[in-house]
Amino acid sequence: MTAFKRISDMGDLSGKVALVRADLNVPMTNGRVADDTRIRAAISTVRALREKGAKVALLSHFGRPKGQVVPEMSLKPLLPALVAAFGEPVGFAADCIGEAAQQALVESTGIVLLENVRFHAGEEANDPAFAKALASLGDLYVNDAFSAAHRAHASTEGLAHLLPRCAGETMALELEALEKALGNPARPVVAIVGGAKVSSKLDVLTHLVEKVDHLIIGGGMANTFLFAKGCAIGNSLAERDLADVARDILGRAEKENCVIHLPVDGVAAKQFAENAPSRTVALIDGQASDIGDDEMILDVGPATINALKTVLAGAKTLVWNGPLGAFEIAPFGQATFALAKEAAQLTDAGRLLTVAGGGDTVSALNMAGVGAHFSHISTAGGAFLEWMEGKTLPGVAASGTDPAIGSWVIAARVSVV
Ligand code: 3PG
Ligand code: MG
Repeated sequence: MTAFKRISDMGDLSGKVALVRADLNVPMTNGRVADDTRIRAAISTVRALREKGAKVALLSHFGRPKGQVVPEMSLKPLLPALVAAFGEPVGFAADCIGEAAQQALVESTGIVLLENVRFHAGEEANDPAFAKALASLGDLYVNDAFSAAHRAHASTEGLAHLLPRCAGETMALELEALEKALGNPARPVVAIVGGAKVSSKLDVLTHLVEKVDHLIIGGGMANTFLFAKGCAIGNSLAERDLADVARDILGRAEKENCVIHLPVDGVAAKQFAENAPSRTVALIDGQASDIGDDEMILDVGPATINALKTVLAGAKTLVWNGPLGAFEIAPFGQATFALAKEAAQLTDAGRLLTVAGGGDTVSALNMAGVGAHFSHISTAGGAFLEWMEGKTLPGVAASGTDPAIGSWVIAARVSVV
């Protein structure tokens, strides 16, 4: 469990410079912000600091420039979106350390965006000298980048050891929600894990069988499990070489009293294409299926959807990562959308706490029109997955109250496993 200070614990900040690590790694199209979710996520932290009289220096990475100055990966094109979000002028420094950064901070009365921290090799290397150069710009460190907290970089980890620190508002919200979902959840807890490959979520599955009461497996990875149980899956995407691994997870689940739910029917097609002719095939738990050799399972079927709705209806907590089918291509999003709507309704009725994360998952929920109805949608992809694996995220650990630093007073408000 890591405890955190919050901005409200930091006393009067007038005249102080707060170094805020945000995650402004947003999707851009033709030089404009295509999805401003992560920018909006920074608003509450910036406002809270400004209200306390602090200047804000925004630190972020953008893309993967690998320690070089890559003009296409400048953060500068984000300025109009930041001004719109924060409702006040935002200055810009062409370098995140040194003269340029110092000067921009002196000239500003409010908010300054510092250039991409990954333009310096010291960022990803978590170089102490680079972290020190960052630290010299400010009086306190506010970590608001949960979605980059799986990286032990200078601005996400090293810097936290050098200045008084606290969690930003978005970081705190994420940690609170995740604690409620897996740390200390209301039971029964259901996890939905989907997506293409078992191999990319092996650690997630292994961890979850110890944590949750019901594990719903969907997407391509369900095919690997069905195959491992001896069920014909035709020409479906599957990692047939991971059959032993799948059987091992099934065995562990049984020991841990975690019920694994695999599809009992699927929607199969001969082509992976928009509106390809499809039909429902039965997938009878490890015994038989009527799928043809040339057919692929692209979604879970109607009988499975009904069974899973019943599982959700009996649950108190839901954690969701990964779609149940090829939702980007009609009509193979039906199971994902149906379950998303069911989960949203249960959330609205106050019967289910719902937490989801990961780029595909969030876009599927938004396509279903229910993103706003979930209890919490994480801004994170990779960090959310590592959290689901039960890993300690370096950016979370370093920003807590435990690592030794000065005469820092501990006031725990948020805790996370
Ligand atoms: C993300 O977009 O997942 C985070 O900003 C982390 O980016 P990274 O995978 O390049 O470290
Ligand atoms: Mg990533």
